[in-house]
Amino acid sequence: MDVIPLGPGFAAEVRGATLSDVASDDAAYAATRAAFEEHSVLVFRGQHVTDDIQLAFSRRFGPPEVTKVGSMGTGSHFVILSTIGPDGKAVPADHRQALRARANQLWHTDSSFKRVPALTSILSARIIPAHGGETEYVSTRRAFERLEQGLRNKLENCFAWHDYAHSRGRIAPGLASPEEQAALPPVCWRMVWRNPVNGRGALYLASHAYAVEGMDAAAGKKLIDELTDAATAPGTSYLHQWRQGDVVMWDNRATMHRGRPWPAHEARLMIRTTISATEADGVATMGLPSPQAAE
Ligand code: OGA
Ligand code: MN
Repeated sequence: MDVIPLGPGFAAEVRGATLSDVASDDAAYAATRAAFEEHSVLVFRGQHVTDDIQLAFSRRFGPPEVTKVGSMGTGSHFVILSTIGPDGKAVPADHRQALRARANQLWHTDSSFKRVPALTSILSARIIPAHGGETEYVSTRRAFERLEQGLRNKLENCFAWHDYAHSRGRIAPGLASPEEQAALPPVCWRMVWRNPVNGRGALYLASHAYAVEGMDAAAGKKLIDELTDAATAPGTSYLHQWRQGDVVMWDNRATMHRGRPWPAHEARLMIRTTISATEADGVATMGLPSPQAAE
């Protein structure tokens, strides 16, 4: 297996291994896992992807999420990102499916609004528009390491609140349904996720983050906005241009991503699997210390 760096200090292409190799071979998994911890975004090209192959690959990294209420694929291990309507044509730009695609165009990390955050997301391209529709990534590890020491020390002990309804509300009021809001109450996470394998810290930020614990609303929002701007500064991203057969996996602890627009009349279909973070991935230290624990 060869690992070829792609982006500005993160992201790499894996060559010489298929998803099925990684699913079935311990050595291929170990090498992929090491590359994942190091590079944060891994690209596999020329894959023959089926749902079963994608899921078998994904399961290597931990327990797969069950897709939440209100998303296409609910109750399965697959999130279906599609702008194709029941008639087989692309839905209009103001359709709920299109608005949800637009919400994915805000810088975010997946599942930070869930009770259990995600280690990694695995995304495969099934139908690709002729223009646009790229996915763009930044390293929040590199971003954290660019900050000055004093701010880094402060952020180690800051916690941010994340809410799915907040990020959806930025696109259209009520885009998160009452059912989704009831299932997904706000959650609070440490703003720095330290990787247990290499000890490197990363900003844990997303479009879902709306407040900083213990700060007034305006100051918290300002801090989140400033850190997001710093993390997504020009020249720091890797832009993935999708080709048929591409699969990209990313570390939700150490990156943010956003979809890029494409012409609304062109269909796009992507399938995602998402793996929950476990104790071995450092999740235990991420929650707000409970009052009992502080005593
Ligand atoms: C995702 C996501 C963006 C895209 O799959 O989690 O945000 O480009 N996708 O489809
Ligand atoms: Mn996403």
